[in-house]
Amino acid sequence: MDFSPMHNAAELGFLPDVDLAPRTTFGVPARARWFLGLSDRQALVGLRRGLGEDPPLILGGGSNILFTQDPERPVLGIELTGLEPRERPDGRIEVWAGAGENWHALTQYTVDKGWGGLENLSLIPGKVGAAPMQNIGAYGVEVKDTIAAVEVFDWKAVRFETLSASECGFGYRESIFKRAAKDRYVIVGVRFVLDPKAPLHLDYGSIREELEHQGVAEPDYRSVSKAVIAIRQSKLPDPAVLGNAGSFFKNPSVDAALAERLSLEFPTLPRYPQPDGRVKLAAGWLIEQTGWKGRRMGACGVHDRQALVLVNYGGAQGAEILKLARTVQAEVERRFGVALETEVNIL
Ligand code: EPU
Repeated sequence: MDFSPMHNAAELGFLPDVDLAPRTTFGVPARARWFLGLSDRQALVGLRRGLGEDPPLILGGGSNILFTQDPERPVLGIELTGLEPRERPDGRIEVWAGAGENWHALTQYTVDKGWGGLENLSLIPGKVGAAPMQNIGAYGVEVKDTIAAVEVFDWKAVRFETLSASECGFGYRESIFKRAAKDRYVIVGVRFVLDPKAPLHLDYGSIREELEHQGVAEPDYRSVSKAVIAIRQSKLPDPAVLGNAGSFFKNPSVDAALAERLSLEFPTLPRYPQPDGRVKLAAGWLIEQTGWKGRRMGACGVHDRQALVLVNYGGAQGAEILKLARTVQAEVERRFGVALETEVNIL
């Protein structure tokens, strides 16, 4: 008799042989041997009992993942919904959001209410549960600044837990969910703290320019959100049209001496000094200098308006996109001596 987790999968409600391509924004071919859409968090306890200690593969909006092969593990699609706002005595607003809620819809809901904090993060693809995983960020804001707590199911200890923001180990596109606690927790919901009096963040990139262009003299959360949406739409490919997973690489952080040396040789290199003395460089700029921006390799390529983004022109395999990524990394390393880390989760 077969006691393997797969044997239990059907009894636990998993569907066999499910196409994952439409469930990811890269849209590359991949099939799950077993797939279950999770819409009831209480079901996690039974799933844990049935599947045993080996955790399933968690799939949120599929906007930060590249499948290079079919996953072996059963796949759990997160469909946990719910939005619960609550006013705090200090006038700030707590919003609890289920991990399966659409991220952009959450930003628009909060902006419409006049609650500040998420406006610069408008139009980021994906679901709420992926926000703390990646510590998503854009236009001078990181989501960690608005997260009070993350509710998880601890697959190892078999219990629900609430992790405070400081327990999540947030850093630039980093958290314990990607590192020390990888695969340990299923994120079921996130508690945000928003503020109707939060200051606007207008200093990054072309936000002010875009507001001016839109004729906005006194910006508010709504107009900043609109500006961010316009900027993103002008630079980043829409995954519904062109498969991609946003920035494929992280902006590298190098020591000050290397940054200095590079800037002497390449005076236009964008540099962002960090509080720890290191210097962040713009990976998009480095890639553009290698000549790869806008170039194709078979059915995939480097986006022509933002070199950090790799795109699937249609029909690309995950392995092809990975090969392109490795080629770009090697070129940047050869030219600048800088190693680019991938941001996307490659499976
Ligand atoms: N640049 C180039 N060529 C390019 C792209 C960028 O020279 O092809 C230069 C720009 O001119 C600018 C600098 O690089 O001087 C920074 O560019 P940009 O403001 O477009 O931002 P980024 O560093 O390339 C990061 C995030 C994006 C986020 C933007 C805006 C990472 C890995 N990426 O990109 O996040 O939208 O800032 O805040 O940190 C994502 O994570 O998926 C994502 C899209």
